Amino acid sequence: MKQIGRDSLHTVRLQLNGTARSAPCTPRMLLSDFLREGLGATGTHVGCEHGVCGACTVQIDGVASRACMTLAVQAEGRHIATVEGLCDADGPLSDLQEAFKRHHALQCGFCTAGILMSCDDYLRRRPDPSEAEVRDMLSGHLCRCTGYTPIVQAVLDTAALRRIAVASQPLPMDN
Ligand code: FES
Ligand code: FES
Repeated sequence: MKQIGRDSLHTVRLQLNGTARSAPCTPRMLLSDFLREGLGATGTHVGCEHGVCGACTVQIDGVASRACMTLAVQAEGRHIATVEGLCDADGPLSDLQEAFKRHHALQCGFCTAGILMSCDDYLRRRPDPSEAEVRDMLSGHLCRCTGYTPIVQAVLDTAALRRIAVASQPLPMDN
């Protein structure tokens, strides 16, 4: 097995929000620090740095994951999605972000990037969640400001609007 000195630099190559990126890091650098300091993707926040608060949540190959519990070298060759990828820099907000805005589901916003990345993954897998299920999913995130109720409402509202959009699509024509 290849041995890497603990202070030696190793180049990590990955896809960040669909764009190939690379930067050097030490073997023990966390993915959260690599994204922020190595790649300048500061939308991912760092709170507790031991997997409790959820602020650092990103998606690794589409699955919500704690960036502070992942080494940067483990992201080699992976597809990493961060809050910066939820909409274009100058484009409209995603429906989930719009719902957060509409329901006042953020105040200081420190927790918001991580919550959005969890919810984005969750709603793909669970398009019709109950309020209890959404609250259970959000139990992996700490928010000091909102009291959670508007966040829950924003997630349920997004799910409902997506279901309406799907139901109103025309059926494919029979041949
Ligand atoms: S900073 Fe990663 S869970 Fe808190
Ligand atoms: S909006 Fe401030 S911590 Fe959640």
